[in-house]
Amino acid sequence: MVNVKILPDKEHASEEVAQMLHDLIVEKPNAVIGVATGSTPEGAYERLAEKIQEQHTDVSQLQFFALDEYIGLPWEHPESYHSVIARTVTEPLGVDPSQVHVPEAPDDATEGSINYYDEKITAAGGIDLQLLGIGRNGHIGFNEPGTPFDSPTHIAQLTELTREDNSRFFEGGIDEVPQLAVTQGIGTILQSRKAVLMAFGEAKADAIRDSLAVPSSEERPGSLLQHHQNCILYLDEAAAAKIDR
Ligand code: F6R
Repeated sequence: MVNVKILPDKEHASEEVAQMLHDLIVEKPNAVIGVATGSTPEGAYERLAEKIQEQHTDVSQLQFFALDEYIGLPWEHPESYHSVIARTVTEPLGVDPSQVHVPEAPDDATEGSINYYDEKITAAGGIDLQLLGIGRNGHIGFNEPGTPFDSPTHIAQLTELTREDNSRFFEGGIDEVPQLAVTQGIGTILQSRKAVLMAFGEAKADAIRDSLAVPSSEERPGSLLQHHQNCILYLDEAAAAKIDR
Protein backbone atom coordinates (compact mmCIF):
# COMPACT_ATOMS: atom_id res chain seq x y z
CA MET A 1 0.00 0.00 0.00
CA VAL A 2 1.50 3.34 -1.07
CA ASN A 3 0.33 6.51 0.62
CA VAL A 4 1.03 9.79 -1.15
CA LYS A 5 1.33 13.19 0.50
CA ILE A 6 1.60 16.22 -1.74
CA LEU A 7 3.04 19.29 -0.05
CA PRO A 8 3.32 22.80 -1.50
CA ASP A 9 7.10 22.64 -1.60
CA LYS A 10 10.28 20.88 -0.55
CA GLU A 11 10.55 22.88 2.68
CA HIS A 12 7.14 21.75 3.96
CA ALA A 13 7.87 18.13 3.00
CA SER A 14 11.30 18.18 4.66
CA GLU A 15 9.76 19.56 7.85
CA GLU A 16 7.12 16.81 7.93
CA VAL A 17 9.67 14.08 7.33
CA ALA A 18 11.98 15.53 9.99
CA GLN A 19 9.08 15.60 12.46
CA MET A 20 8.22 11.98 11.63
CA LEU A 21 11.84 10.96 12.21
CA HIS A 22 12.00 12.88 15.46
CA ASP A 23 8.75 11.29 16.69
CA LEU A 24 10.21 7.86 15.91
CA ILE A 25 13.44 8.64 17.79
CA VAL A 26 11.52 9.85 20.87
CA GLU A 27 9.24 6.82 20.79
CA LYS A 28 12.02 4.32 20.07
CA PRO A 29 15.43 5.66 21.17
CA ASN A 30 17.18 2.60 19.74
CA ALA A 31 15.52 2.89 16.31
CA VAL A 32 17.32 1.68 13.20
CA ILE A 33 17.10 4.26 10.43
CA GLY A 34 18.01 3.78 6.78
CA VAL A 35 19.49 6.92 5.24
CA ALA A 36 19.80 8.06 1.64
CA THR A 37 22.34 10.43 0.13
CA GLY A 38 21.76 12.89 -2.72
CA SER A 39 20.15 16.35 -2.61
CA THR A 40 16.62 15.24 -1.75
CA PRO A 41 16.92 14.38 1.98
CA GLU A 42 19.31 17.21 2.89
CA GLY A 43 16.56 19.55 4.17
CA ALA A 44 15.02 16.80 6.31
CA TYR A 45 18.41 16.05 7.89
CA GLU A 46 18.95 19.75 8.64
CA ARG A 47 15.53 20.13 10.24
CA LEU A 48 15.99 16.91 12.23
CA ALA A 49 19.36 18.15 13.52
CA GLU A 50 17.66 21.37 14.72
CA LYS A 51 14.94 19.43 16.54
CA ILE A 52 17.51 17.18 18.22
CA GLN A 53 19.49 20.20 19.40
CA GLU A 54 16.47 22.20 20.53
CA GLN A 55 14.90 19.31 22.44
CA HIS A 56 18.12 17.67 23.68
CA THR A 57 16.91 14.40 22.18
CA ASP A 58 18.81 11.26 23.15
CA VAL A 59 20.48 9.90 20.01
CA SER A 60 23.02 7.67 21.71
CA GLN A 61 21.29 4.36 20.93
CA LEU A 62 20.24 4.97 17.33
CA GLN A 63 21.71 3.01 14.44
CA PHE A 64 21.91 4.26 10.87
CA PHE A 65 22.44 2.28 7.67
CA ALA A 66 23.24 4.03 4.40
CA LEU A 67 21.73 2.72 1.18
CA ASP A 68 24.80 2.62 -0.98
CA GLU A 69 28.44 3.47 -1.70
CA TYR A 70 30.48 3.95 -4.86
CA ILE A 71 33.13 1.42 -5.80
CA GLY A 72 36.35 3.15 -6.79
CA LEU A 73 36.31 6.22 -4.54
CA PRO A 74 38.46 6.28 -1.42
CA TRP A 75 36.47 6.91 1.81
CA GLU A 76 38.17 10.28 2.23
CA HIS A 77 36.94 11.51 -1.19
CA PRO A 78 34.39 14.27 -0.43
CA GLU A 79 31.75 12.54 -2.60
CA SER A 80 32.18 9.03 -1.24
CA TYR A 81 28.99 8.20 0.62
CA HIS A 82 31.11 7.59 3.73
CA SER A 83 32.01 11.32 3.53
CA VAL A 84 28.53 12.49 2.51
CA ILE A 85 26.81 10.60 5.33
CA ALA A 86 29.40 11.87 7.85
CA ARG A 87 28.76 15.44 6.66
CA THR A 88 24.95 15.32 6.41
CA VAL A 89 23.94 12.78 9.08
CA THR A 90 26.61 11.75 11.61
CA GLU A 91 28.02 15.18 12.43
CA PRO A 92 24.86 17.36 12.35
CA LEU A 93 22.80 14.81 14.33
CA GLY A 94 25.62 14.44 16.85
CA VAL A 95 25.80 10.65 16.71
CA ASP A 96 28.94 8.61 17.23
CA PRO A 97 30.45 7.30 13.96
CA SER A 98 30.21 3.77 15.39
CA GLN A 99 26.40 4.09 15.16
CA VAL A 100 26.50 4.79 11.43
CA HIS A 101 27.07 2.09 8.82
CA VAL A 102 27.87 2.61 5.15
CA PRO A 103 28.52 -0.39 2.89
CA GLU A 104 32.17 -1.15 2.37
CA ALA A 105 32.88 -0.98 -1.34
CA PRO A 106 36.54 -1.74 -2.00
CA ASP A 107 37.81 -1.84 -5.58
CA ASP A 108 37.94 -5.65 -5.38
CA ALA A 109 34.43 -6.01 -3.88
CA THR A 110 32.68 -9.28 -4.71
CA GLU A 111 29.08 -10.33 -4.14
CA GLY A 112 30.37 -12.65 -1.41
CA SER A 113 32.29 -9.90 0.36
CA ILE A 114 29.25 -7.61 0.68
CA ASN A 115 26.72 -10.12 2.04
CA TYR A 116 27.74 -9.02 5.48
CA TYR A 117 25.75 -5.77 5.07
CA ASP A 118 22.32 -7.42 5.01
CA GLU A 119 23.41 -9.63 7.91
CA LYS A 120 24.43 -6.53 9.86
CA ILE A 121 21.03 -4.91 9.23
CA THR A 122 19.28 -8.08 10.41
CA ALA A 123 21.52 -8.29 13.49
CA ALA A 124 20.60 -4.68 14.35
CA GLY A 125 16.94 -5.75 14.39
CA GLY A 126 16.01 -4.64 10.86
CA ILE A 127 15.34 -1.14 9.59
CA ASP A 128 12.46 0.67 11.29
CA LEU A 129 12.30 3.52 8.80
CA GLN A 130 14.05 3.69 5.43
CA LEU A 131 14.44 7.09 3.77
CA LEU A 132 14.57 7.01 -0.01
CA GLY A 133 15.07 9.31 -2.96
CA ILE A 134 14.48 8.39 -6.58
CA GLY A 135 16.51 8.89 -9.75
CA ARG A 136 15.12 10.29 -12.99
CA ASN A 137 15.10 6.75 -14.41
CA GLY A 138 13.31 5.49 -11.31
CA HIS A 139 16.36 4.03 -9.56
CA ILE A 140 16.07 3.52 -5.82
CA GLY A 141 19.35 3.25 -3.98
CA PHE A 142 21.50 2.30 -6.96
CA ASN A 143 18.97 -0.30 -8.10
CA GLU A 144 18.75 0.58 -11.77
CA PRO A 145 15.94 -0.58 -14.10
CA GLY A 146 15.93 -4.37 -14.43
CA THR A 147 17.12 -5.11 -10.87
CA PRO A 148 15.22 -8.10 -9.43
CA PHE A 149 12.71 -7.22 -6.71
CA ASP A 150 14.19 -9.92 -4.46
CA SER A 151 17.79 -8.68 -4.76
CA PRO A 152 19.94 -8.49 -1.63
CA THR A 153 22.76 -5.95 -1.19
CA HIS A 154 24.78 -6.32 -4.38
CA ILE A 155 27.15 -4.70 -6.85
CA ALA A 156 25.37 -2.45 -9.34
CA GLN A 157 26.45 -1.05 -12.68
CA LEU A 158 25.38 2.59 -12.88
CA THR A 159 23.56 3.75 -16.01
CA GLU A 160 24.90 6.68 -18.02
CA LEU A 161 21.88 8.77 -16.94
CA THR A 162 22.62 8.19 -13.27
CA ARG A 163 26.31 9.00 -13.78
CA GLU A 164 25.37 12.15 -15.70
CA ASP A 165 22.95 13.25 -12.96
CA ASN A 166 25.50 12.63 -10.22
CA SER A 167 28.31 14.36 -12.14
CA ARG A 168 27.06 17.66 -10.65
CA PHE A 169 28.70 16.61 -7.38
CA PHE A 170 32.12 15.98 -8.97
CA GLU A 171 34.59 18.73 -9.91
CA GLY A 172 35.94 16.59 -12.74
CA GLY A 173 32.49 15.89 -14.20
CA ILE A 174 31.15 12.58 -15.45
CA ASP A 175 34.58 10.98 -15.98
CA GLU A 176 35.10 11.12 -12.24
CA VAL A 177 31.78 9.39 -11.42
CA PRO A 178 32.34 5.70 -10.69
CA GLN A 179 30.77 3.05 -12.92
CA LEU A 180 29.98 0.65 -10.08
CA ALA A 181 28.50 0.82 -6.61
CA VAL A 182 27.41 -1.41 -3.75
CA THR A 183 23.73 -0.91 -3.00
CA GLN A 184 21.13 -2.32 -0.68
CA GLY A 185 18.98 -4.49 -2.93
CA ILE A 186 15.31 -4.04 -3.58
CA GLY A 187 14.73 -7.12 -1.43
CA THR A 188 16.66 -5.43 1.39
CA ILE A 189 14.62 -2.23 1.06
CA LEU A 190 11.35 -4.19 1.01
CA GLN A 191 12.18 -5.65 4.41
CA SER A 192 12.20 -2.25 6.12
CA ARG A 193 9.21 -1.76 8.40
CA LYS A 194 8.41 1.65 6.90
CA ALA A 195 9.67 3.34 3.74
CA VAL A 196 9.54 7.10 3.25
CA LEU A 197 10.36 8.35 -0.22
CA MET A 198 10.81 12.03 -0.98
CA ALA A 199 10.84 13.49 -4.48
CA PHE A 200 10.95 17.13 -5.47
CA GLY A 201 10.90 19.00 -8.76
CA GLU A 202 9.56 18.35 -12.24
CA ALA A 203 12.58 16.21 -13.18
CA LYS A 204 11.15 13.50 -10.91
CA ALA A 205 7.56 13.62 -12.22
CA ASP A 206 7.96 10.78 -14.77
CA ALA A 207 9.70 8.53 -12.23
CA ILE A 208 6.93 9.11 -9.69
CA ARG A 209 4.17 8.44 -12.26
CA ASP A 210 5.98 5.24 -13.31
CA SER A 211 6.46 4.11 -9.71
CA LEU A 212 2.72 4.24 -9.13
CA ALA A 213 1.73 2.68 -12.47
CA VAL A 214 0.06 -0.71 -12.09
CA PRO A 215 1.23 -3.42 -12.43
CA SER A 216 4.68 -2.96 -10.92
CA SER A 217 7.66 -3.94 -13.04
CA GLU A 218 11.35 -4.58 -12.41
CA GLU A 219 11.96 -2.19 -15.31
CA ARG A 220 10.60 0.57 -13.02
CA PRO A 221 12.48 0.11 -9.72
CA GLY A 222 10.34 2.73 -7.97
CA SER A 223 7.36 0.44 -8.40
CA LEU A 224 8.91 -1.76 -5.69
CA LEU A 225 7.07 0.59 -3.37
CA GLN A 226 3.78 -1.04 -4.37
CA HIS A 227 5.03 -4.20 -2.63
CA HIS A 228 6.13 -2.45 0.55
CA GLN A 229 4.14 -3.13 3.73
CA ASN A 230 4.09 0.53 4.83
CA CYS A 231 5.20 3.15 2.40
CA ILE A 232 4.64 6.87 2.16
CA LEU A 233 5.68 9.30 -0.57
CA TYR A 234 6.32 12.96 0.24
CA LEU A 235 6.13 14.95 -2.98
CA ASP A 236 6.06 18.58 -3.96
CA GLU A 237 3.51 19.71 -6.55
CA ALA A 238 6.02 19.47 -9.40
CA ALA A 239 7.04 15.88 -8.67
CA ALA A 240 3.36 14.94 -8.28
CA ALA A 241 2.29 16.66 -11.52
CA LYS A 242 1.96 13.48 -13.62
CA ILE A 243 0.19 11.27 -11.10
CA ASP A 244 -3.25 10.19 -12.21
CA ARG A 245 -5.30 11.63 -9.32
C1 F6R B 1 21.15 7.94 -2.65
C2 F6R B 1 20.52 7.09 -3.60
C3 F6R B 1 19.84 7.57 -4.85
C4 F6R B 1 19.24 8.96 -4.78
C5 F6R B 1 18.72 9.36 -6.15
C6 F6R B 1 18.16 10.77 -6.15
O1 F6R B 1 21.71 7.19 -1.59
O2 F6R B 1 20.54 5.97 -3.35
O3 F6R B 1 18.85 6.64 -5.20
O4 F6R B 1 18.22 8.99 -3.84
O5 F6R B 1 19.75 9.29 -7.09
O6 F6R B 1 19.21 11.67 -5.95
P1 F6R B 1 18.91 13.21 -5.64
O7 F6R B 1 18.26 13.25 -4.30
O8 F6R B 1 20.28 13.86 -5.61
O9 F6R B 1 18.04 13.71 -6.71
